[in-house]
Amino acid sequence: MALLTLAYVLHVLSAALWTGATLYVVYAVLPGARAGRLGPAAFTEQLHRLLLITRWTGVVLPLTGGYMIWVRYPLPLLLDTPRGWAVLAMLSLWGIMNTLIEIGVLRMRRVGGPVGIGTYLQEGFPVERLPPGIETATLLGRVRPYLLASAACAVLLLGDAALLAVGL
Ligand code: HEM
Repeated sequence: MALLTLAYVLHVLSAALWTGATLYVVYAVLPGARAGRLGPAAFTEQLHRLLLITRWTGVVLPLTGGYMIWVRYPLPLLLDTPRGWAVLAMLSLWGIMNTLIEIGVLRMRRVGGPVGIGTYLQEGFPVERLPPGIETATLLGRVRPYLLASAACAVLLLGDAALLAVGL
């Protein structure tokens, strides 16, 4: 029981951090970059940090969520009830949003030429790897559609979590 409570606490904290960070980037960082108020280094730094949050919570969310499924969702409940479908939707949206953020930042990282997946997974896009002479607008163009789609996923995820909270 104590372990399940801990899993819920870590799950909700990670969920809040990740969706909140993504929505904040779309609300506050993208417009600043679009208006030319953010330099390429500052922009890259923000996106690299969002990627790190994605990766840390990308460990915690499936671990805690998987444990919650194991303890609270026998297969018929998971597969044959609206509540179970809401949990499966949560899992799917997590996968989609994760992929969108990873690909978006990878497209940014590849602005200066090819970068291997292994290197990218290991490093992300630290500001030291920003090639000289790249403008914010170029970086923004590569990542923006992916972040907008991620923000839509974040809204759907929060709506989904609200349905679970009211006892769908
Ligand atoms: C691997 C991905 C995920 C899995 C397997 C998963 C699974 C689950 C499960 C099984 C529950 C418990 C539902 C219940 O109380 O009956 C839950 C609750 C919750 N999840 Fe997720 N989840 C995942 C990702 C996310 C993400 C990305 C968010 C971001 C919004 C999120 C937010 C929440 C919240 C806020 C609750 C608490 C809802 C409540 O009050 O019952 N989860 N999740």
